[in-house]
Amino acid sequence: MNGNFAPIHDELTITKLPIISGEIPKDLNGIYARIGPNPQFNPLYNLHWFEGDGHIHALEFKDGNCSYRNRFVQTEKYLQEKENGRPLAHSMIMDGGINPLLKYTYHYLYERMYRGLNGPLKKGGGAANTNIIYHGGKFLALEEGHKPMEVTFPDLKTVGEFDFKGKLKHNFTAHPKIDPRNGEMIFFGYELNPRGTSFRYGVTDKNLDIIHSHEFTKEETPYVCMIHDMVITENYSIVGFYPLILDVKKVLTGENPIVFDDTKPTKIAVFPRLYDGKSSKIQFFEAETGVAFHYINAYEEREGDDLLIKILVHVQKSFSMTDFSKGQPFPYEYTLNLTSGKLISEGFLKTLDGNQLPSGEFPVVRGEITGQKNRFFYYSLVVEKSELFVANSIAKVDLEKGNAFQTITIPNNGMIGEVSIIPRSEEEDDVYIVCYAYHEHSNSSTVFVFDGKTMNNTPLVNIELPRRVPFGFHGNFFETQKLLK
Ligand SMILES: [Fe+2]
Repeated sequence: MNGNFAPIHDELTITKLPIISGEIPKDLNGIYARIGPNPQFNPLYNLHWFEGDGHIHALEFKDGNCSYRNRFVQTEKYLQEKENGRPLAHSMIMDGGINPLLKYTYHYLYERMYRGLNGPLKKGGGAANTNIIYHGGKFLALEEGHKPMEVTFPDLKTVGEFDFKGKLKHNFTAHPKIDPRNGEMIFFGYELNPRGTSFRYGVTDKNLDIIHSHEFTKEETPYVCMIHDMVITENYSIVGFYPLILDVKKVLTGENPIVFDDTKPTKIAVFPRLYDGKSSKIQFFEAETGVAFHYINAYEEREGDDLLIKILVHVQKSFSMTDFSKGQPFPYEYTLNLTSGKLISEGFLKTLDGNQLPSGEFPVVRGEITGQKNRFFYYSLVVEKSELFVANSIAKVDLEKGNAFQTITIPNNGMIGEVSIIPRSEEEDDVYIVCYAYHEHSNSSTVFVFDGKTMNNTPLVNIELPRRVPFGFHGNFFETQKLLK
């Protein structure tokens, strides 16, 4: 990987970062942690960016000061590769075709027979590279192909795989949803397994005890596909089946096996939170085909006697796993009528002048309105034709004002991924926006904090970093007050 997708290898601890301009707001206290793929070693043959080892970059804001720490998540794969001083894993996405498979089989057998290795695929957390959350007193690094990895803050030590006291028997999404009203965490796990169970669903209480789980039957599964995210309302869970499927033939021909099958429609499953396949019912809504990775939010609305559900999500109508420039995601809205069982409307969000909102991804809303009606959301505006997702500005959308939007262009030609928002007061859009930015001309990174209410282009503070921070996936801001509770 090149440019700011290239990995870094050192692990630093810096107690006081220099300020370039502005000052750190005194009421900004907590940890901003962002995780991403960062291979410890160059791969055996090829590596898709998605498959690198999880690496956390964490900033601790405290009384106007900011410190920085970065560490690998020490999964079983990471530890075995470190012990051997070289890579042991094989790319599932990039190394299709019979020759790479034979080479890898040879390599794997050789290692096992002559070097006494168990191989990198034994139990233990996968890549742990996609998201990092705090719930029930634990920090969990997540990647959808495996179970969570527990880490500690602020020292970023890896505790190990977290399996919910032995109760979690399957992969765990990188995007569980937390109901802010009662602390329940709603999650799922999927497998690209056309023969057996491909979708499992569950709910924990606020202490991370699993209180409900259900394996979807074949009848409850429209088709087997990648499912990256889900969304909740106050009473319902919503899972979109978008036809991003595994084409087994392509594994053998060497092409990327995860393909968008646009002959299949989107199927949106809506079911009560404690759905068990028996005492409650599931409803499916058929929609236009497309691909969606991240939901903005969803909420329930009454219209007379009818119950409606609005779903806000980023949708794209074409997609390639190896070239993101072949499809662009835009904010999209579905309106479902649960009473009649009909999809009322769907389409890209437009402003009052009839134009679509600009292309972008990584939407964020305030955590305390998850599953309830939101007025605002923020997302990162994609740089056109980037092969992987890169953004250079931030949009704020006002859903109550005809989807009017404001943008912040990242100063100094900064390029970003996801931003995090931090509530400053009760007002929904009174937030700080924090992000890492990469500056290509100097091959360096800085941190920006912006005012999410005014959307002023001048940052409240721009903080120097001791090193380049590679592009990553998701991050969250953990407020000190909430961590102390
Ligand atoms: Fe994601």
